[in-house]
Amino acid sequence: MKRRVWTARNLLLLAMLSLTFCQPAMAAALSDDEEASLQVWRLPDLAYPKDNPFSEAKYELGRMLFFDPRINRESVSCARCHHPGMNWANNQARTLINGKVLPRHTPSLINVAYNRSFFWDGRAETLEECIAQHLGGMDMPDMADDTVTRVRLIQGYEAWFRKAFGPKGISAQTIAQSLATFVRGIIVNDSPFDRWAAGDDKALSASAKRGFALFTGKAGCVKCHTPPHFSDFSYHRTGTNSIDPGRYEITGREEDRNAFRTPQLRQIAETAPYMHTGQKATLADVIHFYESAGDVRSRGQELRAFKLDERETRDLIAFLRSLSGTPVRAEVPMLPPVRTRR
Ligand code: HEC
Ligand code: HEC
Repeated sequence: MKRRVWTARNLLLLAMLSLTFCQPAMAAALSDDEEASLQVWRLPDLAYPKDNPFSEAKYELGRMLFFDPRINRESVSCARCHHPGMNWANNQARTLINGKVLPRHTPSLINVAYNRSFFWDGRAETLEECIAQHLGGMDMPDMADDTVTRVRLIQGYEAWFRKAFGPKGISAQTIAQSLATFVRGIIVNDSPFDRWAAGDDKALSASAKRGFALFTGKAGCVKCHTPPHFSDFSYHRTGTNSIDPGRYEITGREEDRNAFRTPQLRQIAETAPYMHTGQKATLADVIHFYESAGDVRSRGQELRAFKLDERETRDLIAFLRSLSGTPVRAEVPMLPPVRTRR
């Protein structure tokens, strides 16, 4: 018995030793060519805008405002619709809030910091502008003044705004700036795909690698979901079944009718349902949609049909799943009191 234990321990030691010594040979690295072509997919560091640089105080204030239902008439906090426990989206096709159904699907806020335009139709050019337009939630545009009044009534906020903005105080601009600073912290950049693009060949399964080849090849996804964000931040008619005029409402140009901004795809497997309509329940549904070149035909339709077999569909889904990294969590902060003690 004793002898057997010894042998087992020796074997274990031997295994550990060989692991240590074989490590350099086993750590699979990408070839130079592969590495060069993957370089384009690496997420750049985030640049904060010059007129709203990061500060800890702004971030903390933004976090409180994000979770505070008192800042608009309908008593809905940002988190009600962009729920941190649901990857900063919610799992409803159309958000039902206080008995009203919103006209468009609620997008996730993950990596929104990198967007070059905001909302499904791109009607806001900066995150600050987007949030200022959106303080009351979707069915209540232009609620900025109402929100400013409400935030001013909560005395506990005064000191926080002083700390974050000095004499500027509480305004629609400073509210939007602090919320934007918080939202810019919602970043996913550690997915298996990201580790693969950074040179770790073993981070991605063979199936996901084949899926990536389909994404950039036969399935044509990369035409719009371009590196490094998986979005060209431009507007396209994909033929989603909806009467929503989309980008047309902003530009008035006929070619923009029913066109929507290409969404980024990191964390996409966690944020179903999909599209501005929320009509597609699963990634498989999305892929079938693209295979048939969209649900509805329209002039200027940009997609062309293609066919994937079962294995290819599985591979493409495996690749899309490989874009999921560690979910960004946020603790619900203590909210400032309505009255501060004198
Ligand atoms: C009642 C639900 C609801 C609430 C509350 C809400 N949002 Fe939204 N949010 C949406 C919907 C729906 C959209 C998409 C609207 C569109 O594109 O027309 C959106 C879009 C956004 C976008 C743009 C995302 C992108 O990809 O372009 C940002 C940023 C955002 N919301 C942040 C916030 C913040 C910050 C708050 C709190 C002040 C908030 N939202 C409150 C539903 C909501
Ligand atoms: C012609 C440009 C274009 C091509 C090609 C394209 N997409 Fe898209 N993609 C878009 C646009 C625009 C949307 C938003 C459409 C909408 O909401 O109506 C979208 C939406 C999506 C969504 C839903 C995102 C979300 O947050 O709801 C996924 C997933 C997706 N595309 C994956 C793919 C895959 C996989 C392919 C290849 C089979 C592909 N796309 C090809 C432009 C494109």
